[in-house]
Amino acid sequence: MLTDGSIAVQSASEAPFYRAVGDEAEVFRAAAGGGLPVLLKGPTGCGKTRFVEAMAHELGRGLITVAGHEDMTSADLVGRFLLKGGETVWVDGPLTRAVREGAICYLDEVVEARQDTVVVIHPLADHRRELALDRLGTTLSAAPGFQLVISYNPGYQSVLKNIKESTRQRFVAIELDFPPAEIEEQVVAHEAGIDAGTAGTLVRLGNAIRNLDGSPLREVSSTRMLILAGCLVAQGLSLRGAVQSAVVQTLSDDPDVVRALGELADAVLPRA
Ligand SMILES: Nc1ncnc2c1ncn2[C@@H]1O[C@H](COP(=O)(O)OP(=O)(O)O)[C@@H](O)[C@H]1O
Ligand SMILES: [Mg+2]
Repeated sequence: MLTDGSIAVQSASEAPFYRAVGDEAEVFRAAAGGGLPVLLKGPTGCGKTRFVEAMAHELGRGLITVAGHEDMTSADLVGRFLLKGGETVWVDGPLTRAVREGAICYLDEVVEARQDTVVVIHPLADHRRELALDRLGTTLSAAPGFQLVISYNPGYQSVLKNIKESTRQRFVAIELDFPPAEIEEQVVAHEAGIDAGTAGTLVRLGNAIRNLDGSPLREVSSTRMLILAGCLVAQGLSLRGAVQSAVVQTLSDDPDVVRALGELADAVLPRA
């Protein structure tokens, strides 16, 4: 599905598997109906990307995903002139393509990007629904169906510092979090292809780590990590080995923390 670098384009295929946790799908549908931009908040690996993929599919819209990073420039979003066989030709960036095609443009972790990059989205997020192509001297009106979706992880400080308050107030905010245990268990079992019992054990461990008091971890065990551990189990690795590699060692490099997480895992996992 990945095309070039950080840009992914979703084409028509079967519906992505997504288990709704609250009213997020209803809110998204309403926002999409009104052409309103959406701000998705939630920790890494909780299902934000999957949710957008599922909604784009349900709404029959194209989905163009851009992963934000601090070196991203507005040209990376809007487009640039490139030299092709001695000729300079304009090549649309992913945002411009979404604006022309009436697709959903999902800017993943866009707050990583610099201020001068993010300004291009302001007139797209408000009632103007316009994108200025300064280099071409034109302004595009967004095609019907175009929708801006941006995500961020509220656990990182300085988020949204690059988005003007007046723009931010135009977004419909949807907060996602790790699903409740019974849903997360189904997700892990489905995605990793493991039995419900093993998935349940992984979810119990995930929640034990999430509920640690005074946790020194920057990120907690995500649904994505639990799925990864499940995939290793599906490949024949022991549950302990899978947890060690996909969860414990991933969460920290500090030997004391790794040891403490290992002990927690020993307490939660069934005896070998
Ligand atoms: N509610 C859910 N329904 C289905 N799959 C989910 C759900 N939440 C998380 N997942 C699974 O977790 C993985 C990680 O989620 P992802 O959408 O990539 O997280 P994020 O974008 O928030 O970092 C997905 O690939 C998917 O397999
Ligand atoms: Mg994501």
